[in-house]
Amino acid sequence: MNMDKWIYDKLSSRLSHFKGLIALDLGCGEGFNAVGLAKLGIKVTAVDKQATMIERIQELANKEKVTITTEVVEIQDFQPNTRYDIVLFTHVLHFIPSGDREYIIKKVVDLVKTGGLLVFADLEDDFPVLAECLSLLETSLKDIKTERFSVKDEPHLGADYPHHHKAFYLIGIKQ
Ligand SMILES: C[S@@+](CC[C@H](N)C(=O)[O-])C[C@H]1O[C@@H](n2cnc3c(N)ncnc32)[C@H](O)[C@@H]1O
Repeated sequence: MNMDKWIYDKLSSRLSHFKGLIALDLGCGEGFNAVGLAKLGIKVTAVDKQATMIERIQELANKEKVTITTEVVEIQDFQPNTRYDIVLFTHVLHFIPSGDREYIIKKVVDLVKTGGLLVFADLEDDFPVLAECLSLLETSLKDIKTERFSVKDEPHLGADYPHHHKAFYLIGIKQ
């Protein structure tokens, strides 16, 4: 699988270059986006709470001949000593317990450098959560672009056939 096309297109249209930038993929999963960014010359850190995901991303990085810094950690406990030009927080919010979401979104925004880009995405199945998230993001980001569309998903637990979800995507600049 390749990097998410929406993310690639939006980053490409907002950035004049990739090389030398530093990016963070929070809740990276199998790492298609993180590896995609690394292939563009970006220095990438990818974190996930599941060790199996971090093993898979390292396998993919080796296969694609790129280097990625990884950490098995919960976003709640991740304490980097830097801020990033690009932060991806995609399809992870629905895993975060509702009581932690406001704090996590503020933490995610804090990890972006001033003038850096935050990319957020999640399924629109729980819209009140997204509306709450959006209002929090609007207070700290500018030049926000949002889009909603249908994405195809492969069979998984609870839906063992190919199916579609409505997805919500957002990109904005940290003020
Ligand atoms: C649906 S996958 C999304 C993967 C990738 N970000 C993407 O957009 O394709 C969600 C990932 O978030 C991770 N995750 C969920 N809660 C997390 C948390 N609190 N801290 C770190 N990772 C978390 C899961 O382990 C899983 O790999």
